[in-house]
Amino acid sequence: MLTVSGAEKRLSGLKKIRTHILACEHKDCLKRGGRESLRELKQALRDAGTRDRVLITKVDCLDQCDEGPVMVVYPDGVWYGGVDEACARRIAEKHVGEGRTADGCKILRDFRRDTRGDAEREESK
Ligand code: FES
Repeated sequence: MLTVSGAEKRLSGLKKIRTHILACEHKDCLKRGGRESLRELKQALRDAGTRDRVLITKVDCLDQCDEGPVMVVYPDGVWYGGVDEACARRIAEKHVGEGRTADGCKILRDFRRDTRGDAEREESK
């Protein structure tokens, strides 16, 4: 009889992951509603049927405390600030679902845009 080990099961789950979201769970972000935003993000992902493609990691301070709640979406490297429940839902629907930056959310940094900017600067030299 063939058995699947716990490690094989976890690796199989990891292969489904397309997006990794870091969600700050430190005190300033929690004071600003980070817990509710994270709850809404998870619900929106379940509603969209994409929850199994997204790994969410609760992290300690991301050093952007005045901009909280903060979430970072990889592999794109988009840093969202002031993530209220509406923004969390847009991250699930627009960013995860459509691969587009979640409109209406505050962008602290977008590595895709920054990288494109670097390439354009290199070309113009
Ligand atoms: S408490 Fe969230 S970024 Fe510092």
